[in-house]
Order: sequence, then structure tokens, then C-alpha cells
Amino acid sequence: MIIKSSKLKISAVNPSSYPDDDLPCIAFAGRSNVGKSSLVNSVLKRKTLARVSQMPGKTRTINFYLINDNFYIVDLPGYGYAKLSKEEKDSWGKTMELYFSESKNLKHLFLLLDIRHEPKETDRQMYEYCKYYNIPVDIIATKSDKISRGQYQKSFSVIKKFLNIKGDEVKIFPISSLKKTGIEEVSDYMEEILK
Ligand code: GTP
Ligand code: MG
Repeated sequence: MIIKSSKLKISAVNPSSYPDDDLPCIAFAGRSNVGKSSLVNSVLKRKTLARVSQMPGKTRTINFYLINDNFYIVDLPGYGYAKLSKEEKDSWGKTMELYFSESKNLKHLFLLLDIRHEPKETDRQMYEYCKYYNIPVDIIATKSDKISRGQYQKSFSVIKKFLNIKGDEVKIFPISSLKKTGIEEVSDYMEEILK
């Protein structure tokens, strides 16, 4: 996919502030710190459009990035950060629940999982959530620079087993925002999704 233009259209919490057009949305979801915002920057070939931080919990709002005036990449707030207060976790839950129930234009979701670790219960919930709302979902295994290529398959097996994925029903894309590997595959696949 050729990126001709990209900009942060809006940061929203409530449906009343979602973009008021009908352009399709592709969302990135995953634990805090898994690399969602970094992937937004990598796909868009921008260094600092999405805010990246060492500190988990950076992205608290739903950020709609308008691409080529034609679709949105939606950077969802991360989950699973232990240090958040109960109020913050509840607020995350509400924000997400509203997004899934109110967003008419969500075409596809990528669940981002750290390639090094077995997914957690919260990842499974996120995955089941997509199934419940009938949102097509595929997986992006992030930070692939942290393991050797030879270990990829093992990691994919762990992910598939944990989420009970059979055969090739779900794609898994290994990516590294650091080394910029696997990014083109994800962005070409997005182009397919949008056709
Ligand atoms: P929240 O906004 O808290 O939900 O986090 P996020 O999922 O948006 O993660 P973010 O992109 O902010 O990245 C978190 C940390 O992981 C930062 O320190 C990044 O530099 C690092 N990181 C992201 N992608 C990669 C990658 O591909 N490889 C490596 N080694 N580090 C990465
Ligand atoms: Mg983020």
C-alpha cells in the first residue's frame, strides 16, 4: 500500500466524538506496551505521529488516524497494565465496550501480541470479544527482533494453542517496528481488506 497522506483525525473516548464519516476502520488492539503505537508509525512511515513510550498506558484514548483520505487506522488504548487503578481499568472497559457496540465502520481488528510471551487471559478476552461482535481478526506478533527467525513457528504454535486457533483460520504476521520487518506484509494485507 502506498501511503500518500496520514494524520491524526481525532482522539476520542465517547462515540459522540468518533469521526462522523463512513470511512472503514482497521483497529490495533493489545496489551499496554505491546507496540501498537509504534506499528502505527511504522505502517505510516512516520516517526512520531503516534506517541510511543517506555511507560505502559500511554495511549488512553481511541486515536483515529486518517490514511489517504480513505480509511482509518484506529489505535486502541492498551489493556493489562497492572498499575492502573480500578477506576482507570473500569474506564478502559467502558471506552472499549462503547467502541465495539457503537462503531459501525470497524472492518477488521489486528490483535497485537508480544512474540516472546504466551498470551494472557486478557488477550483471550479481547480475541473472544471480536468473535462475539463478528469482527474479523488477525494477529500481529510484535517485537520479532527480540527472537531469532527459527523461533517464530514455536511462538506461533503457543499463540494458536492458547487462543484455540485451528489451522489457518487466523493469520499471524511477525513484525518489528524497530527493524522495520514484516511491515509491508501488514500494510499490503490491509489494502486487501479494504478492497
Ligand atoms: P500503550 O499505548 O501503553 O498501549 O502501548 P503501545 O502498545 O502503543 O506500545 P508503544 O508503541 O508505545 O511501545 C512500547 C515500547 O515498546 C516502546 O519502548 C517501544 O520503543 C517498544 N517497541 C515497540 N515496538 C517494538 C519492536 O518492534 N521492537 C522492539 N525491540 N521494541 C519495540
Ligand atoms: Mg500506544
